[in-house]
Amino acid sequence: MENLEMGKSENYQPSMSAEEIERREKWQDFVYENNSHRTESITVNVEGCELVVTPEVFSPVLRDSLLLAKNVSTETKAGEKVLDMFTGSGVQAIMAAKQGAEVLAVDINPSAVQCAKANAERLGLENMTVLQGDLFSPVNPEEKFDLITGNPPFRWFAPRDMAERAELDENYAALRRFFQEAKSHLTEGGRLLAVFADSGDLAYFEDVANQAGYAQEIIDTEKDEQYGWTYNVYRMTIPQTEQQ
Ligand SMILES: C[S@@+](CC[C@H](N)C(=O)[O-])C[C@H]1O[C@@H](n2cnc3c(N)ncnc32)[C@H](O)[C@@H]1O
Repeated sequence: MENLEMGKSENYQPSMSAEEIERREKWQDFVYENNSHRTESITVNVEGCELVVTPEVFSPVLRDSLLLAKNVSTETKAGEKVLDMFTGSGVQAIMAAKQGAEVLAVDINPSAVQCAKANAERLGLENMTVLQGDLFSPVNPEEKFDLITGNPPFRWFAPRDMAERAELDENYAALRRFFQEAKSHLTEGGRLLAVFADSGDLAYFEDVANQAGYAQEIIDTEKDEQYGWTYNVYRMTIPQTEQQ
């Protein structure tokens, strides 16, 4: 019951030790400096696709992006409608578009939107559209998707700037809204594919999804031996009786 209440809370309170919180703060500083806060463009190859990642845009070099990308590639079927929330460089949307899906990608960071659009154009993917906005705000409220993909920010600290919103979602406010709002954008039998790691509060992530009514299975997992974090890819569905 305590766990059930945790997911409902609008004021997230971490239940881990001070040492565990500090470990995640240090990791955050490392990721911010080396990934999203870059001042140079870099080129990254993901599943055979070359992406140019411009400054202030989250680069798909860490396990979260790469593990999800591999699974989006195998999960997507040609002709499906796919929504990639938290698109960043567009990497997950591109994986789905390469499989022949009709893809809509969304990000709150205007630099990410430009970057994802440029990557789609460079790869000749005319079946991919990118919109700027906060979560589902730029999406037609009536529009439904067979698959929603997402690599959300993992930690709950307050972001210093737009670039850091790639990793930080203050008190997990966006995460709770994401799971709630995604339900009304899934087709009957639609799936949500998301990645999360214990470099954030993994138990809380699972609890929020559970509270929102999703059935969840872990379809892939990987431990990063260098840094010690474990990454899970979840396939989530809404049982028919609860579908909106
Ligand atoms: C961890 S990055 C993931 C990027 C990419 N999808 C990947 O797998 O490498 C999270 C992205 O979510 C975006 N984001 C954060 N909060 C958001 C929100 N409320 N609405 C839309 N996008 C958001 C950030 O700008 C960032 O590009």
